[in-house]
Amino acid sequence: MAFTFIDLFSGIGGFHIALKKLGGECVFASEIDQNAVEVYKNNFQMEVHGDITKIDLNKIPYADLLAGGFPCQSFSKAGLQNGFNDNTKGTLFFNIKEILSHFVNNHKPIKYVLLENVKNLTTHDKQDTWNTIIRILKELGYIIHDYPMIMSPTDLEIPIPQSRDRVYIYGIHESYNVKLPNIEFTKKNKNNSNLFDSNILEIEVDQQYNLDDNKVKLIEMWQEFLDNIEFKPSFPVWGNYFHYPSNNPEQAPEWKLRIISRNQEFYQEYKTYIDKWAQKYDFWNLKPTFQKLEWQCQEDCTRLNETILQFRPSGLRAKRPTFIPALVAISQIPIIYYQNNYRKLTPRECARLQSFPDSFKISNIDTQAYKQFGNTVNVGVVEYIAKRLLEV
Ligand SMILES: C[S@@+](CC[C@H](N)C(=O)[O-])C[C@H]1O[C@@H](n2cnc3c(N)ncnc32)[C@H](O)[C@@H]1O
Repeated sequence: MAFTFIDLFSGIGGFHIALKKLGGECVFASEIDQNAVEVYKNNFQMEVHGDITKIDLNKIPYADLLAGGFPCQSFSKAGLQNGFNDNTKGTLFFNIKEILSHFVNNHKPIKYVLLENVKNLTTHDKQDTWNTIIRILKELGYIIHDYPMIMSPTDLEIPIPQSRDRVYIYGIHESYNVKLPNIEFTKKNKNNSNLFDSNILEIEVDQQYNLDDNKVKLIEMWQEFLDNIEFKPSFPVWGNYFHYPSNNPEQAPEWKLRIISRNQEFYQEYKTYIDKWAQKYDFWNLKPTFQKLEWQCQEDCTRLNETILQFRPSGLRAKRPTFIPALVAISQIPIIYYQNNYRKLTPRECARLQSFPDSFKISNIDTQAYKQFGNTVNVGVVEYIAKRLLEV
């Protein structure tokens, strides 16, 4: 099916790839981040306009669909109090609204809208943000479901092992007299796709992605710890609080005191072993973040090298390989043990976790590439939704 679309907050073009696959032609893109713009241009050979707040509405061509994953911001109540009657002013949703209303006022409403955001948008600001967005789209004449559609790549027909719940808002303008579909999918059991059994991992990987020796040693240290206790800890292990009460934080909240006390009991029970182990690794002199372990696989994995690891401020976190934490634009790149080696996921693997095709040209600056794939929308999920939306 041939149609045109506007790609707002276009990033590196997750929407673009999915919509193009369905027969769409992009007529306008806007993105403020120059590094993302370069990648977009390199892949799609088209102009990308900059800051959407500075663009003259008359310069935006008409399209059949407007797509965008916009940053989530609170709406100000001050606008209303000052009599502006527009509490979205100053947020980027305001710019989506301005574009849609520009075409509505010119008697040529954009037929479809498809927006994406973090799940938190639905509860943000006591749901005021969500309610305002839905109300405004309806005021512009869009038929929209009141309830959020939250979908993750793990829910796809061929599931991708990245747990990334995002909210999708889709609507059709009432002037087209068609019924809004109720796009459904089966919420999958998150254990249905395993990173190590998927086509995501690269076989030949440059050594630069290998974990440095100090980090490998920390993993081995925690493996030895796990080997010697007889269970998988269901609580965060906080070695820096083993020596209660000397490390008792003053005025810690209730939940934290509960974890500390669990760690105390645990330490007392395994003291003989832990003290020997700690001495071997000079554990008490490690940074507090390296003295913490979060085992989040229950009994589904037996060893750290079967899990997906992340070094986080809250400690070394181990998750099931069916459950890659959502890629986010930060430095906690997931770590895997593969081909006898601990290494970071590569940018190409992150691209695959976002359902980008291997023909996609990735930024050659890795920090940018990781950030961009953390920010982007999953192509497979957009394709799933847009296909069903465009059918009407
Ligand atoms: C959540 S990301 C969307 C990513 C995109 N959907 C993709 O597939 O890569 C939001 C994007 O909005 C961009 N952005 C933020 N403010 C903007 C503005 N004023 N004008 C244009 N783009 C903006 C950010 O740089 C970021 O890339």
